[in-house]
Amino acid sequence: MRYLGIDVGKKISRIGLGTWQFGSREWGYGDAYAGGEAHAVVRRALELGVTLFDTAELYGFGRSERILGQALGEDRETVFLATKIFPIVPVAPVVEQRAVASANRLGVQRLDLYQVHQPNPLVRDGTIMRGMLALQRVGLVGEVGVSNYSLQRWQAAEAALGGRVLSNQVRYNLADRSPERDLLPFAQAHDRVVIAYSPLAQGLLSGRYSRDSRPGNRVRAANPLFLPENLERAGELIAALRGVADAHAATPAQIALAWVLHHPAVVAIPGASSVGQLESNAAAAEIDLTDGEYQALQEASDRFRPIVGPAALPHLIRARLGR
Ligand SMILES: NC(=O)c1ccc[n+]([C@@H]2O[C@H](COP(=O)([O-])OP(=O)(O)OC[C@H]3O[C@@H](n4cnc5c(N)ncnc54)[C@H](OP(=O)(O)O)[C@@H]3O)[C@@H](O)[C@H]2O)c1
Repeated sequence: MRYLGIDVGKKISRIGLGTWQFGSREWGYGDAYAGGEAHAVVRRALELGVTLFDTAELYGFGRSERILGQALGEDRETVFLATKIFPIVPVAPVVEQRAVASANRLGVQRLDLYQVHQPNPLVRDGTIMRGMLALQRVGLVGEVGVSNYSLQRWQAAEAALGGRVLSNQVRYNLADRSPERDLLPFAQAHDRVVIAYSPLAQGLLSGRYSRDSRPGNRVRAANPLFLPENLERAGELIAALRGVADAHAATPAQIALAWVLHHPAVVAIPGASSVGQLESNAAAAEIDLTDGEYQALQEASDRFRPIVGPAALPHLIRARLGR
């Protein structure tokens, strides 16, 4: 495993583990996963040197935090544990109360990274950051983070906190490179971190899915990347991943992760539906792409033009109706 160079008192592994899948109905992995495999995934992650674990109060309405806390056991104290508050009522007393509830579910005295899950569109961050500062002062929160923030709002959050907002957790993968515009340069220049979520584009970049074999769960039914048209359009990108993968005796998913980690300010938090996937993902931290390979993947990614945004809506409805 490789670790970030930033000093936060604990090591942060460049490949972490995302746990939205733990106990949440929308991924549809069922009780056998939530009650067994998820635990095994966490224990194996620890053995492989993973220290970054990401969850949220929203995932399975607290179930993910509980499953993760139980699986970590005594190791809870040594890992870098990240959770999130969903800021529906972003006022300081509510923030403080929700942090305590998350810490209780996880079984910890301290949240290493407490992230605002989404920017609240109506309320600016002054109120929420007052709560975050109070939590830092009493030691319940180590670092403050945000998620799905623009650069401008990330910087405004720092001004409101009066200190560093360590990380911004955003979607970053070969099918969505928008963080390259301004988030990555900012993070690199100021010792901040971009936490890449959906680094495998929710499994698209594994090459496992195609027009004729689409995944069947609610998360991916709502994700336009899994529209039949887009799975077909992704063919060239998957082929480019396979080409690089062959040269490294690796898989397309591992190369997709190595591509994300090519940027020094990035850590990735892939989810895993099995211990095997977790092992494969952790091993990807060791893969170094050549400049030529990186460039070839950038170019294949540039050529991938999926139908997304409002244009995807009628396609999603048609796909839902099976037409
Ligand atoms: N802050 C936010 O708003 C936000 C949003 C989304 C996610 N997140 C966080 O980011 C984490 C990861 O994102 P994500 O779950 O959306 O997407 P992801 O990590 O890109 O995709 C995870 C899925 O890809 C497949 N997969 C994983 N490893 C694989 C491998 N080695 N080979 C083949 N397939 C593999 C698995 O699905 P199958 O086996 O079923 O194909 C797995 O459930 C989440 O768990 C969550 O913690 C945060």
